[in-house]
Amino acid sequence: MARWKPDLRGSEATPEETWLRRRDFLRLGAAGAIGAAASALPLPAGAGEDDPSGEVLPVARKLEMAGGEKPTPWKSVTTYNNFYEFGTDKADPAKRASGLRVRPWTLAVEGEVKKARAIGIEEILKMAPLEERIYRFRCVEAWSMVVPWVGFPLSELLKRVEPTSRAKYVVFETLLDKAQMPGQASRILEWPYTEGLRIDEAMNPLTLLAVGLYGRVLPPQNGAPLRVITPWKYGFKGAKSIVRMRLVEEQPRTTWALMAPTEYGFYGNVNPAVDHPRWSQAKERRLGEFFRRDTLPFNGYAAEVAGLYAGLDPRKLY
Ligand code: MTE
Repeated sequence: MARWKPDLRGSEATPEETWLRRRDFLRLGAAGAIGAAASALPLPAGAGEDDPSGEVLPVARKLEMAGGEKPTPWKSVTTYNNFYEFGTDKADPAKRASGLRVRPWTLAVEGEVKKARAIGIEEILKMAPLEERIYRFRCVEAWSMVVPWVGFPLSELLKRVEPTSRAKYVVFETLLDKAQMPGQASRILEWPYTEGLRIDEAMNPLTLLAVGLYGRVLPPQNGAPLRVITPWKYGFKGAKSIVRMRLVEEQPRTTWALMAPTEYGFYGNVNPAVDHPRWSQAKERRLGEFFRRDTLPFNGYAAEVAGLYAGLDPRKLY
């Protein structure tokens, strides 16, 4: 296979002034004079809603887990996306994913479980009390945001299917449907988008099965109707629009690790000390901020998750 060329337009891999194309920069409302000018500009086509849209979800409790930081505005979270099934430009998913059919939607949970099942989204939404969790979110491309997700711990779903003692990993698969997902017609990635976690990572209380954002159902561009969020890992670990979970004994081959094994590992734990081969991971750019800030080990969640890797060199868990 020809070597994959990543699309890093709009990423942190380039110098400060050029990492976001000017259009994106204005749209995200950078601080200062440029931000003031931006508010007077008309929104680009497909920029999405200014305010949260979609059905309101019943949220039973709220957990603030981003050190008190203000969430990134809805508009930025929903118009600056990675969802290659709808194109490689950050603006593509908001423009192209709106027609994704999210009902009916069934999640197959199978493999090393005692109670393999196909579960409808309506049942999933009622499986456990929904929580709002405000988490930091760090993309491997060195941009970041703070997101009020809505969901419940993935462990709630996994314990219902009763994993066997051979279940060492969980594999997550995105919908495969070329008719709905035009990006799947191109071979930029191997489809379906596949990710995985070790079973103890999947059962960790921080790992969220997310169904919403800002108190509303997830917009398609953010992975409707359900996706996985592991806030201590780079964003690519969280597969969107999931239709299948498979519990397996062997470490799975995952999409980015397959495409560029020297660039993306299986673990994808946020670590400022381990650079990507083509850029530093020491700092990151919060959407909407001008200056870069330091990246935190495990994205600031070391107290909660470092124990999962006791005795292992965190540098090797990239
Ligand atoms: N899931 C699928 N199916 N396809 C993708 O291209 N991109 C990943 C992840 N999950 C991706 C995906 C990457 S690289 C990131 S950073 C996050 O989704 C982006 O999530 P967001 O658009 O909600 O910010």
